[in-house]
Amino acid sequence: MIFYIPQDTTALALGSEAVARALQTAGIEPIRNGSRGLFWLEPLLEVATDQGRIAFGPVSAKDIPSIIDALESDPTSHDLYQGEVADIPYLKSQQRLTYARAGLGDPVCLDNYQSLNGFEGLKKALQMTGQQIVDQVKDSGLRGRGGAAFPAGIKWQTVHDAGKSTAADKEPCQKYIVCNADEGDSGTFADRLVMESDPYQLIEGMIIAGLAVGATQGYIYLRSEYPVAHKLLNIAIDRAIEANFLGENIQGSGKTFHLEVRLGAGAYICGEETSLLESLEGKRGMVRAKPPLPAIEGLFGMPTVVNNVLTLAAISSILEQGAANYQNFGMGRSRGTLAIQLAGNIKRGGLIELAFGVTLREVVEDYGQGTYSGRPIRAIQVGGPLGAFMPESQWDTPMDYEAFAAIKAMIGHGGIVVFDDTVDMAAQARFAMEFCVVESCGKCTPCRIGSVRGVEVIDRIVANENRDNNLILLHELCDTMEFGSLCAMGGMTPYPVRSALAHFPQDFLLRDSLLQDAAGASLQDSLLQDSLLQDAAGSSSRDAAGAAQGEN
Ligand SMILES: Cc1cc2nc3c(=O)[nH]c(=O)nc-3n(C[C@H](O)[C@H](O)[C@H](O)COP(=O)(O)O)c2cc1C
Ligand code: SF4
Repeated sequence: MIFYIPQDTTALALGSEAVARALQTAGIEPIRNGSRGLFWLEPLLEVATDQGRIAFGPVSAKDIPSIIDALESDPTSHDLYQGEVADIPYLKSQQRLTYARAGLGDPVCLDNYQSLNGFEGLKKALQMTGQQIVDQVKDSGLRGRGGAAFPAGIKWQTVHDAGKSTAADKEPCQKYIVCNADEGDSGTFADRLVMESDPYQLIEGMIIAGLAVGATQGYIYLRSEYPVAHKLLNIAIDRAIEANFLGENIQGSGKTFHLEVRLGAGAYICGEETSLLESLEGKRGMVRAKPPLPAIEGLFGMPTVVNNVLTLAAISSILEQGAANYQNFGMGRSRGTLAIQLAGNIKRGGLIELAFGVTLREVVEDYGQGTYSGRPIRAIQVGGPLGAFMPESQWDTPMDYEAFAAIKAMIGHGGIVVFDDTVDMAAQARFAMEFCVVESCGKCTPCRIGSVRGVEVIDRIVANENRDNNLILLHELCDTMEFGSLCAMGGMTPYPVRSALAHFPQDFLLRDSLLQDAAGASLQDSLLQDSLLQDAAGSSSRDAAGAAQGEN
């Protein structure tokens, strides 16, 4: 029998190290795999037996002796027995492309990766021209997974074509592939799961990106809060160099690609691509005005592909299985699969990879099984701290970039944070502004000053100070931030604020219950009227995806 116990951040946080030690004490040396993303079952102990690969979870060290006993007699009799891993409904019903290998074995074992079709996409890419690779990515319909959903193939084409004017006798210009692994959005962990469960997939995607656009150097900009990913990535890079998948003359092809990891310093804004490039260059993370786009003048002023971890991780399967296969998943212009991260007050949190088109309700009710507290769900924030709060009337919206944009919400990086009916939505709106105060890079006034004023105005509304005028002021302030900010940080902070006002107006009522009894009805009327006015005005606002896409 072979035992597997994960070594990724989530499993470690839930006690997997103690479980590994308990196994060692019992004379068993487990393979340290990565999580499959079923976080509600972590630490998930898997055992490869003659009857298949079975699972027990969530396990703690004290469960190990009884599990070993059960394995010798009847594993199904154990309380923590979950059946065959692949048959656990949460996992079985998923459509895994990017996470197909996650959890299967030691994430940094190169032989394991290759035995599971690893580097097959790269081998195909090495037989192709850069333009042919770019065409494959275009045909797949892959859109950036970092939040803005910009078509990856178009970005790659721009970098591929950049520097073409260089005279024939000159060296081709230096180009870069930069992987955005800053993953700062609330409730997100999909990038981390790739890097901790299947790091070679990201490395393979970056090498292919380099071949496609003619870049010989790549950097993974990793948030410093991910020490386990940092360690595993560096081990994987060293082994890929040893096996000649990285470095000079890759697999005898004459092609070169070098890759290094750089740690961020903990600023949310360093996830924004131009800020990230400034930080990579050793400067303070401040947003750059666009144009020029990073694809034309990026890292050190050279043409640069900046892509999210998931965008780059999807590349190997696109090359290996073909663009048409990827196109077969999804709906509308949202092709392929989405890494949905279920977090917050939820019973079964974890990673769910599904084709675009599944509804939010299916995700939170079927997979998530409702709230952890057992109370009714009241609001769901999708897309990180800049995403809208969605009331129940919107939960049947399919997860599709355009469908979400049409209701002024956004999918972003696919993070879903669930709140039960005890949530105070006025406090959440205030928090959105406060978050912007703390994380603003400070370059433009609407964001730097507007967010500070936003906190103050919400405080005055909640305290019923000159309420009607302050409501008008809050909407004007949101307009100023939305249309006047240099990047989506200030530009989208109004989304959570306005959605809270529009869908949960009662939470902005007076806190003083006596005053509330006297004034509540008229205030509620006023807020409801106000949200209707906002809905009516909504059609003239730029939509969420459009705003985010403006970044690229
Ligand atoms: C405030 C802010 C924070 C962002 N944070 C991230 C992040 O953590 N990770 C990420 O991939 N993209 C983030 N983005 C989006 C990036 O600017 C950029 O669009 C993305 O890295 C491009 O890669 P993609 O096309 O593969 O999505 C952020 C954007 C903004 C405005
Ligand atoms: S919107 Fe905020 S984060 Fe973006 S450039 Fe302006 S000040 Fe910086």
